[in-house]
Amino acid sequence: MAAPPDDTLAALLGESSVLAPAGRSAAAIAELSWWLFGGATLIWLVVIGLSIYAAYFGPRAHDEAKVRLLVVGGGAVIPTLVLAGVLAWGLWLMPQVKPPLPQGAVEIEVEGLQWWWRARYRAETGETAVPVANELALPVGRPAVLRLTSPDVIHSFWVPALAGKMDMIPGRETVIVLEPTRTGVFRGACAEYCGASHALMSFAVLVMEPAAWEAWLARQAAPAEPPASAAAQRGMAVFTEYGCGACHAIRGTEADGDVGPDLTHVGSRRTLAAGALPNTPDDYVRWISDVHEVKPDANMPPFGMLPEGDLAALALYLDGLT
Ligand code: CUA
Repeated sequence: MAAPPDDTLAALLGESSVLAPAGRSAAAIAELSWWLFGGATLIWLVVIGLSIYAAYFGPRAHDEAKVRLLVVGGGAVIPTLVLAGVLAWGLWLMPQVKPPLPQGAVEIEVEGLQWWWRARYRAETGETAVPVANELALPVGRPAVLRLTSPDVIHSFWVPALAGKMDMIPGRETVIVLEPTRTGVFRGACAEYCGASHALMSFAVLVMEPAAWEAWLARQAAPAEPPASAAAQRGMAVFTEYGCGACHAIRGTEADGDVGPDLTHVGSRRTLAAGALPNTPDDYVRWISDVHEVKPDANMPPFGMLPEGDLAALALYLDGLT
C-alpha cells in the first residue's frame, strides 16, 4: 500500500505555526518573536550599512576618541541595553505565558508515552474521568489546565499555535495552561527526543464552540455502540479472539486493557497511531499487520499473521467505533 501524501496527514493534524497563534500564551510568544525578528533585522541593517560605509564611503582616518566611542558604544553599551530590555520584557510576559491556575478551567490529565498520548478529562460532576487518546478537544475562550506526567522517559508537550512547551517528566507532575482564542484544528507534538519514534507522536487539538465541545465530551464518555454490520461483528469477535482487549479498552465490551490507547471511539479520531496514519479501514489494516514499519520499536506486536478477511473485518469494526 502506498504511503499517503504528507499533506493529507498535515491537514488532518492541523495548524502548527507559532506565528499564527490561536491561544493566549502563544500570542504573547508570537508578539515577542516579531519584535525580536524586527530588532534583529534593524541591527543587521545598521551593521551592514556601517560596513558598506567603511568600505566604500569616507575612507578617511577617524580620530581615536570617535573610534573608541563606536567600539564601546556599539560593542558593549548598546548590546547590554538591548539584551537587558529583552530580558525585562520576557520576565514581564511570564505571567501570560505561565499564568496562575485559573478558576473554572477544564481539567485534563495527560500522559506522554513511547509513542502516544493518554488523556483523562476530569469530570466536573463527580462522575468518572473520561479517557481519550491521541486527540484532545477544548472549548474556545475557556482555559484548560493540563497536568502532565510520563511513565517512561521525558517527553515534551507542545501545541505551537496554543502555547509554549512543557516537559513531561517521570516521577513528577508539570502543569500547562492552554487558553484557545479561536476555533480550529491545531497540531501538537512531542518536543523532546524520546526514542526511535519520537517524531511519530503527534496529536490534534480540536478547538470548538462550548456547546460542540460539551457534545464531544459526552460522546467520548459514552460506551461504544454495538457493531452495525455482520462484518463488523466478525471484527469484534476477532478483537476478542486475538486478545486485543488485554492492552486496549473498548468501554461497553469486555475489553478493558490499559496498556495501550483506549479505543472506545477510535473511529472518531482524525488520525491513527498518534498522528502516524490517516484514519481509514486501510490504515487500520496497515497498522495492525505491520506496526513496526509504521512506528519503529512501538510496544504493540504486529498481527500480520491474521487471515486477510479477519484483518479487514477488524479494521471495519474499529473504524466504526465513532
Ligand atoms: Cu515523546 Cu519525543
